[in-house]
Amino acid sequence: MIITIDGPAASGKSSIATEICKRLKMVPLKTGLLYRAVAYILVQELDKTINIETPNELSINDLNFIKDITYEFTDGIAHVLFKGKDVTEKLSFSSIDQIASIVSANKNVRELLLDVQRQIATKYNIVADGRDCGSVVFPSADYKFYLTATAEARAKRVMADVARKAETRTLEDVQKDIELRDKRDKERDVAPLIVPSDAITIDNTNLDFEQTVQEFLKHIKI
Ligand code: C5P
Repeated sequence: MIITIDGPAASGKSSIATEICKRLKMVPLKTGLLYRAVAYILVQELDKTINIETPNELSINDLNFIKDITYEFTDGIAHVLFKGKDVTEKLSFSSIDQIASIVSANKNVRELLLDVQRQIATKYNIVADGRDCGSVVFPSADYKFYLTATAEARAKRVMADVARKAETRTLEDVQKDIELRDKRDKERDVAPLIVPSDAITIDNTNLDFEQTVQEFLKHIKI
């Protein structure tokens, strides 16, 4: 079984995917973590400078390291490993947000990660969340969702995120960053963020977490 949840930044896709997985005994495939891993490895491990103007300069050769990225699911938690080393906790910093959104516009990055994602789906029943899961990666998914909320509501949730509390950003900065990422994701040439034609759209601007989960569950029959 494959369920996809696409949507703009910080709409709660990953948290909802994790919760649905708990309840339906499935495995979350947080595809954003893979793009974040590529960004992190390029900048931190390989000392590459990512140019915001020329995101397509990464060749397949430059991206050879993607074969050393693995996505594992242990004790109910998703882990991303690079050459066997767990890098998951380094991936959610806001410094990685924008770089991930820049490198994700690169067609070679997307092509290489396509295989990684599809391989994972051969091993588990998954809930995949991202930007192109229903439109490109898993076009024949059993259920497709598009989860959205206003940029302001999403920025407020990011501000409330415990893991990000140590960072000193204002609500306005966070909202601006979210809008910039959304714009890039929607306007890129390869696999842009769209509402898949056969997706169920859920707007959770005025829904709490449990209400959002219920909105999903009422559509899923297993
Ligand atoms: O979902 P998350 O915020 O972790 O994703 C980080 C970045 O990776 C996004 O801003 C987006 O640009 C990119 N991404 C993507 N396609 C996906 C998942 C994430 O382009 N399927």
